[in-house]
Amino acid sequence: MRVPFVGIDSEYAALTDSCMARLRAVIDSRTFVLGEQTRELEAAMTGITGSRHAVACSSGSDALFLALQACGIGRGDSVLVPAFSFFATAGAVERAGADPIFVDIDEETFNAGADRFASTIEKEFAVDGGLHVHRRLGSRLKGLVVVHLYGRAVGMADVAELASGHGLAVIEDAAQAIGARTDAGPVGGAGLAGCFSYYPTKNLGGAGDGGAVTTSDDELAASLRRLRAHGADGGAYEHRECGINARMGELQAAVLNAKVPHLEEWTRKRVEIAARYRSLLETAAGAGLDLPADSPEGFHVFHQFVVRLAAERRDAVQAAMAERGVDTRVFYPLPLHLQPCFARLGYSEGDLPASEAAAREVLALPIYPSLTPEAVEHVCASLRECLGA
Ligand SMILES: Cc1ncc(COP(=O)(O)O)c(C=O)c1O
Repeated sequence: MRVPFVGIDSEYAALTDSCMARLRAVIDSRTFVLGEQTRELEAAMTGITGSRHAVACSSGSDALFLALQACGIGRGDSVLVPAFSFFATAGAVERAGADPIFVDIDEETFNAGADRFASTIEKEFAVDGGLHVHRRLGSRLKGLVVVHLYGRAVGMADVAELASGHGLAVIEDAAQAIGARTDAGPVGGAGLAGCFSYYPTKNLGGAGDGGAVTTSDDELAASLRRLRAHGADGGAYEHRECGINARMGELQAAVLNAKVPHLEEWTRKRVEIAARYRSLLETAAGAGLDLPADSPEGFHVFHQFVVRLAAERRDAVQAAMAERGVDTRVFYPLPLHLQPCFARLGYSEGDLPASEAAAREVLALPIYPSLTPEAVEHVCASLRECLGA
């Protein structure tokens, strides 16, 4: 039996009519950028996140960049970023001209929460005239990016308290966690700005790139709308801010709108599959396999189901799974503080041990709404066999 890592065929099979009708309507309207479909998608995102505004844009990476820019983060600033995430989380900070300051993750959840951010501030920043200044780089601490990695929400109440005590902007990277809830409400609605990706394999994925920023701050929303269209105010060709072209296409928004009504059901299926994995793999947990830590109901939308294996076995197990027809992935094999493009920041191996260990040990199993019970059993049987459990 073959179990591919990604399975979006059935999503589209279920959508053909509604999706095609929307695409046809866009073509008939001759409005291809930032039109009715984009506005409908933005309204749906305010519903999902409980935010007052949603600003659709070109990708999750640009959503992060726009959010940082709208928060006034740029040259001379530093931003706390978990060291274990997709590259874009830190890439956006660098692109905004600021210094990403890497924070180690919690071993159990793969996430960085308030305690990790607080200990990095204490260790790496000196207080100077009421400002937190990075000891090595000299930049002023201005914000932090919370990443809800793999779809597991970070507790946001403590993060909000920490941030307000230090005057920091909180940006949520919710690219993998649409629909998840935190102790302070839905992800994307708990910080100053929430960033989402509609990359095709995401829980709500389009037919190409797309993203959104959510916020309940009216001024920030207005700034985000300007910045995604070169910073122009209306159609006057006057640019007080220097933005980028990060507009969303109507065809993309149409596909996403066709999918939105299915998101809750698809999320429920992911959660069910995760529970099934857990029960079928429990017996292997003693044989060198760690299952994802428990989380309160609704906190995890299982964009990924990631297990942990001893570093020296991980790659061999992955190869053996492939021989049995099971496609798995490593998200992510190199933590961000060790990426060559961030060498100027002065990190070395050993600095952030939990992130480095995760990079050596994680393995993501296939998880998507159309994954059949037989496929789940095959994945689990193969993994148990590969581990000799
Ligand atoms: C955690 C995280 N942040 C940011 C992004 C960037 O999103 P996009 O690929 O839409 O630019 C992704 C997408 O892969 C992601 O997983």
